[in-house]
Amino acid sequence: MNTVSIPSTDIGLFEAMYTARSLRHFKPDPVPAALIERVLDAAIRASSGGNTQHWTFIVVRDAEKRRQLGALYRKASDYQSGVYAARPKPEHLSDEQYRQFLANSGWLWDHMADAPVILVPCLQMRDPPERSSLPDVVQARYARHLTNVARISGSSIYPAVENVILACRALGLGTVITTNHILYEDEVKAVLGIPENVATFALMPIGWPTRKYGPLTRKPVAEVTFADGWGRPWPSA
Ligand SMILES: Cc1cc2nc3c(=O)[nH]c(=O)nc-3n(C[C@H](O)[C@H](O)[C@H](O)COP(=O)(O)O)c2cc1C
Repeated sequence: MNTVSIPSTDIGLFEAMYTARSLRHFKPDPVPAALIERVLDAAIRASSGGNTQHWTFIVVRDAEKRRQLGALYRKASDYQSGVYAARPKPEHLSDEQYRQFLANSGWLWDHMADAPVILVPCLQMRDPPERSSLPDVVQARYARHLTNVARISGSSIYPAVENVILACRALGLGTVITTNHILYEDEVKAVLGIPENVATFALMPIGWPTRKYGPLTRKPVAEVTFADGWGRPWPSA
């Protein structure tokens, strides 16, 4: 019988979406298993292509494994920082916002392992059906077909990842989606004994945040939306 009480989850959905900012600083206190279970039970409500649900979530609490994952995250982030440095600052971010982004994400490079939980959302990658068994229309554009399959592979796990973010927000936990580790995914898989046909899609540190939630500032809808075709402003006149 689990005696851990689950905090109230009755913040509004829109409040959660508007305030669930990326949180990377955590208290060392453990997160009760019942809360992780609650987060994962929300995650698995997400959709997946063909309703395959071929996901697996690895909850890493073991300190040595977190240390190893943290070291790989650091290695991947060192690599990735060169890519960031080569890119211009996104125009919509002020110098101060960009400085904060770099400071917060840079802080995590050395502190991923400090989170009491690192969640690793995974998907089983299925081999495509034998080419000769497919209809002619698919065989005729087989290379493009495979490119398309590869391009949408993450779309069967990232909706669940967003549910993790929102469920954490509702429960008073903090998290952030990170993907830098994928550069050294083989080493991450070795730490966790993940089979060859399974891919990892994020490392999500989860814990009790020491920084505040939201509000989230984003480019306004009018700037990122067109009506009925590219270049036609929304809202339409
Ligand atoms: C696909 C994806 C990959 C990301 N990878 C990382 C990462 O490796 N490390 C990190 O600290 N944040 C990562 N983030 C978090 C973004 O930096 C963050 O969502 C963005 O800066 C907005 O921050 P905010 O939600 O606090 O406003 C990633 C986000 C997405 C959607």
